[in-house]
Amino acid sequence: MAIALCPGSFDPVTNGHLDIIERTARHFDEVIVAVIYNPKKTGSLFTLEERQEMLREVTAHLPNIRVESFKGLLVDFAKEQGANAIVKGLRAISDFDYELQMAQMNQRLSGIDTFFISTSPQHSFLSSSLVREVARFGGDVSSMVPKTVVERLVQSFNKEA
Ligand code: PNS
Repeated sequence: MAIALCPGSFDPVTNGHLDIIERTARHFDEVIVAVIYNPKKTGSLFTLEERQEMLREVTAHLPNIRVESFKGLLVDFAKEQGANAIVKGLRAISDFDYELQMAQMNQRLSGIDTFFISTSPQHSFLSSSLVREVARFGGDVSSMVPKTVVERLVQSFNKEA
């Protein structure tokens, strides 16, 4: 059974993430979307539970997806889950240096290979941090994130106001 891990912060999940998850699901028997639990990371907008909930909602149409969380090393979680591959989206050359370094480190640590999927051009400028910033100041992000995420962003920033 070929199991892929799609890891990330997903704070929040964007249409770019979803595109990568959907395309990964076509190539693997099972895809585990692995949300990092990082209590020390400041500036997270959504809790781990909220990030997982949104991911479950937007991947509900895909039968071979499982949303989990992990802490510590990604490769330890991958081994624990029996995953054979890590899959990441590459948006631009600016992603490449760091992603290559992480892929090589993960390979050295565990022997698990990382596969890169090129982001669809309509999503290549998207990042969770930009979406958060635009939404915080009232910008329209409805073409960039799923509907449920738009609603949660609005709720979250209304609470702040
Ligand atoms: O969505 P992000 O924040 O770009 O995701 C980064 C993530 C979670 C994939 C990366 O930080 C990670 O794998 N962290 C787990 C800790 C780890 O294994 N570090 C060594 C990486 S070589």
